Amino acid sequence: MSGGEGTVPAVGAGIPAREYPVTARAPGKAILFGEHAVVHGRPELLLAIDLHTQVTAHRAAAWSLNRRTAAVRENPYLAALLADAGPGGRPLALTAVSRLPRASGLGSSAAFVAALLAVVAAGSGGSGRAALAGRGYAVERAAQGGVGSPGDTAATVFGGLLAINGGPGPVLWEASDGKRSWAVRRVADPGWTWVIGYSGTPHDTAATVRAVGRRLARPDGEALLDRFAAVAGDGIRAVAAEDRDRVGALLDENQRLLAEIGVSTPRLEELLEAVRPASAGAKLTGAGAGGSVVVLPRAGREIEAVRRLARAGAIALAVRTAPGGVTLLEPPDPEGEAAPPAEGP
Ligand code: MEV
Repeated sequence: MSGGEGTVPAVGAGIPAREYPVTARAPGKAILFGEHAVVHGRPELLLAIDLHTQVTAHRAAAWSLNRRTAAVRENPYLAALLADAGPGGRPLALTAVSRLPRASGLGSSAAFVAALLAVVAAGSGGSGRAALAGRGYAVERAAQGGVGSPGDTAATVFGGLLAINGGPGPVLWEASDGKRSWAVRRVADPGWTWVIGYSGTPHDTAATVRAVGRRLARPDGEALLDRFAAVAGDGIRAVAAEDRDRVGALLDENQRLLAEIGVSTPRLEELLEAVRPASAGAKLTGAGAGGSVVVLPRAGREIEAVRRLARAGAIALAVRTAPGGVTLLEPPDPEGEAAPPAEGP
């Protein structure tokens, strides 16, 4: 593991019981190594990022989302959650706001589901993190037509830097879809700033995962997956060792593999080219076929990387690891609220 300044945050406390109204916020994610291959049980490294989705819940006569009752049927994640919970749950009026663009590869759906589950759990006695992650993964899979790994769910529920099916150390959470299983472990976080560039083109994760599945069903599929696994395994070790140059080279190598399985696009390649002078390494992040790129900037050139991506037309942001996962916001202090304003001299 890391011999440097990396930190491994402990698993935060679960979601406590609370009276409504309740607000929860859940972080998005960026995948550094192993997207797509993780769906087939291979290793992945990803981090929770400090861009959040926030959901507030009030008791109400009927379920609604952002004041629309129809959204309960139309929003696949909310519909899957309510189908999973069964009848009997008392209705909530939900409002959701997010800094994560939808379908951008940054985990907006997993964050929405985690924040939703957290506000529901708060009103029914609270929940441990592993239980919340289990439900989040079930809801995400159901909403995505039964495809996908639990990586995005793990990042938003536990926070920090996480290895799936790789890395040393104790297992934080395990999930299975009956055919494959995934063990989630913490990785020491070097505390680097990463740069994200959203291409502005949303993608369809489930369709992309299915297309990659067809590509990997060809005779060279297993060999390709082994190459993904080798890069991700090396990547997990290089990040833990805080070896920026090696991590950068491995990000570029992972990108070449993603291009080989058909999920890169001319637009994503254009963004990667634009940021190259300021980048130690970069790749698409998430499902691809649109979505975002993640860049490890050369040390001290973070702002230049943001500028280069923005000039190439991306929505560019510098992000850091969100160390904790989904959490409830503290309710306003009633005494503080009632206190009269301080008088001037
Ligand atoms: C999506 O964020 C990452 C994929 O690997 C799908 C998944 O793991 O569920 C493409």
